[in-house]
This record gives sequence, structure tokens and C-alpha cells, in this order.
Amino acid sequence: MSEHIILDRQGAVQTIRMNRPDKKNAITRKMYAEMAGALATGDADPAVRVHVFFGVPGAFSSGNDLADFMAVAMGGEGGTEVWDFLLALATAQKPIVSGVDGIAVGIGTTINLHCDLTFATPRTIFRTPFVDLGLVPEAGSSLLAPAVLGRQNAFALLGLGEGFSAERAKDAGLIYAVVDEERLEAEVLAAAQAIAAKPPEALKIARDLMRGSREDVVARIKEEGAHFQERLKSDEAKAAFVAFMGRKKA
Ligand code: COA
Repeated sequence: MSEHIILDRQGAVQTIRMNRPDKKNAITRKMYAEMAGALATGDADPAVRVHVFFGVPGAFSSGNDLADFMAVAMGGEGGTEVWDFLLALATAQKPIVSGVDGIAVGIGTTINLHCDLTFATPRTIFRTPFVDLGLVPEAGSSLLAPAVLGRQNAFALLGLGEGFSAERAKDAGLIYAVVDEERLEAEVLAAAQAIAAKPPEALKIARDLMRGSREDVVARIKEEGAHFQERLKSDEAKAAFVAFMGRKKA
């Protein structure tokens, strides 16, 4: 593992921590690959019963690394790491709990649509500025967000790029609970331990029934991904990436 993804085990709970604080946990291809590997390894290990995602204080994730997007926009090769991660996330065999504090942009928001329980702090803002970046929703969010939040909230989030406070996210059904910063990790781990203590076979069947068809979700991720790859090379996207890269100089 790199220093940007830290894995830990507490009993049957595997924690996957994004740890790139200087970039507000922008996710690189290597980080996606490591998180995909951690989900696969945990799924295959009978001693692991729950996956947990954490970020760092104040930053769950600022989304995909925009320098990586820029590289593809300029003709570079995209690699399969994002796809591998999204597939592992959408088809994870074991429950996933997330603890979100602060920045949750792009995949930092949409990852939670795949989580069984998400806790967030009062200072968290969920935001998916895909359209503003000249892009389209990803991670199956075009399918999952309308189902979870309803069409209008999904449009506000994914179409308008509105920020959702933790309270609004809870009211809308995107997250399970709002907890103070200093209690976040303890509450998440307590919930994960409670899940880990359930009879695993019954829990798996119950979870699979609640999650429904994975084929539909995976197919949607693929469909979104095809558009996304095209959009990365669009003039709209290039202009947005250049504006982000140049904003400090400005
Ligand atoms: N990709 C690459 N680098 C990123 C990043 C991203 N998604 N988000 C933040 N960073 C970097 C910044 O460039 C900056 O690096 P620098 O110190 O070397 O200049 C560092 O992280 C801190 O970011 P900064 O913008 O100074 O922090 P902030 O608290 O003022 O703002 C954000 C945080 C997340 C609101 C802002 O950085 C942002 O909007 N980032 C882009 C988010 C985004 O569009 N993600 C893609 C979604 S699909």
C-alpha cells in the first residue's frame, strides 16, 4: 500500500482510509487500484465482515485527481483503475460503512451511494460538479441517486451541482446519520462492529435483497463511463480543468 491509502483491521472490520491531505484526498489512479484491491481482498477473506471508508479530518475526498483528468483530456491513456474500483464497489460482497467529514466532491459523494450506512459531520458538504466540469455523473449515480433521493433532489445534486449539507443529505436519504467530528470515527466503527456481529449468511441475503440487481448498476456504470471518457476530451471539460489548474495564479 502507498501512504495515500492506509488499511487497518479491527476484528472483522477492515478500514480503508484515503490519506492525501495536502490534496484534500484527491484520488489518483494508484489510490483507486489500491482501494479496489482492498475491497477484493476483504471480500475474499472470511475473517473480514465489513468494509469501512474514512478520509482525513476535513476532507473525505475532493474527487478524482483533476491532473489525471487533464492528462486524459490531453490525449493520455486513462487506464482501468477507476473502472476496477467502481466494479469492486458496486459488487462488494460485504456491507460498507463510510465516515465523511468535510469535503466530499465527485466520487467523494457518489461512493456513498454504494454504502450501506454513511455517517457525516455537520461541516460536510456533498457536491458533484460533473456538469460544471463538462462531464457526466459516474459510479452509477445517474441510476442510484434518483432511486435514493428522488428525481428532483438527484437533479439538484447531479445536474445543478448544488451542495448538500449533511442535514439536507440526511433528510434526502443520502446518509444515515449526522454526528460531530470528534465522535465520527467511533460511531462508524461501533456501527461496523454491530454489523460484524450479525449472523453473516442471513445478513448477506438481506443485503443482497435490499441492493437488488447489480447487473443494472454495473451496466449503468459502463454506460456513464463511455460518455465520461468522451467528455474528458471535450472543449467544455478542457476549459474547466485549465481554469482549476490556473486558479491560484489568477
Ligand atoms: N484534483 C487535484 N488536486 C486537487 C483536487 C482535485 N480534485 N482538489 C484539490 N486539489 C488540490 C489543490 O490543487 C491544492 O493543491 P496545491 O496546494 O498544490 O495548489 C490542494 O489540493 C488544496 O486545495 P485548495 O483548493 O487550496 O483547498 P480548498 O479547501 O480551498 O478547496 C476544494 C477544496 C475541494 C473545494 C477545491 O480544491 C476544489 O474545488 N477542488 C476540485 C474538486 C473537483 O472538481 N473534483 C472533481 C470532481 S469530478
